[in-house]
Amino acid sequence: MGKVVAVANQKGGVGKTTTAINLSSAIALEGKSVLLIDMDPQGNATSGLGIDHESLKNTTYSCLVKHSTIQESSTQTSVPGLFIVPTNSDLAGAEVELVNTEGREGHLRNIINEIRDTYDFVFLDCPPALGILTINALTAADSVLIPVQCEYYAMEGLTRLIGSIDLVRQSFNSNLDLEGIVLTMFDSRNTLSRQVVEQIRSHFVDKVYQAVIPRNVSLAEAPSYGRPGVLYNVASAGSQAYVCLAREFVGHGKKGSR
Ligand SMILES: Nc1ncnc2c1ncn2[C@@H]1O[C@H](COP(=O)(O)OP(=O)(O)O)[C@@H](O)[C@H]1O
Ligand SMILES: [Mg+2]
Repeated sequence: MGKVVAVANQKGGVGKTTTAINLSSAIALEGKSVLLIDMDPQGNATSGLGIDHESLKNTTYSCLVKHSTIQESSTQTSVPGLFIVPTNSDLAGAEVELVNTEGREGHLRNIINEIRDTYDFVFLDCPPALGILTINALTAADSVLIPVQCEYYAMEGLTRLIGSIDLVRQSFNSNLDLEGIVLTMFDSRNTLSRQVVEQIRSHFVDKVYQAVIPRNVSLAEAPSYGRPGVLYNVASAGSQAYVCLAREFVGHGKKGSR
């Protein structure tokens, strides 16, 4: 049965989408079957994988609100083995439209349950907020992967996020695991960056991946070419870090230790 992983952090600009795109691509390139569901109305995962938002017929919105299936709504990306349920700005309306529906937190879980056997991994790229879309993702997920930017206040934000995840566990999904914490946009010349890595490692110990994602221009450029960094420039330090992360991630999954 496939594993469902929410990539979440209520803070924007920390590397959620970059991690969702590159980790899912790197795992697909290792021969796994992977689905990425774009849960953010900004649609950065969709455009970052070269799919034109506004011409889309079936999207995450149609799955959540119009009862389309994932099978009807997913499309192949340029990465062999990687499929995406794309999104466009319609998804912003889902927050409002879902608010008064029964079992509103569980819609995504119900839809994903129908296709769990089709994929080895399903990644959910969450928006930077703890609204109904992120709650749907955390309710559907087996585990949550948290990208943390190596910057001041990272620890405070992370502690708050872990508190929110506990609330979701208590109310909607008692099985939700912490998959791991990925440190992003690391700059080795910056003392603060190094201090953040130390602080987070000393607190969260084996929950923090050994692979640290450096600040890297190829990763930032790749989305404008509609390709994941790991295809756009596989030799770059950023892409190599995501390849290492993917190996660690799949290893953890096998051990079942998280
Ligand atoms: N390791 C990195 N090095 C350089 N730029 C990065 C890196 N990770 C993300 N970025 C850039 O930072 C911005 C925010 O990243 P993004 O993944 O979209 O964050 P989020 O999804 O959390 O909002 C984007 O412009 C992205 O291209
Ligand atoms: Mg994003």
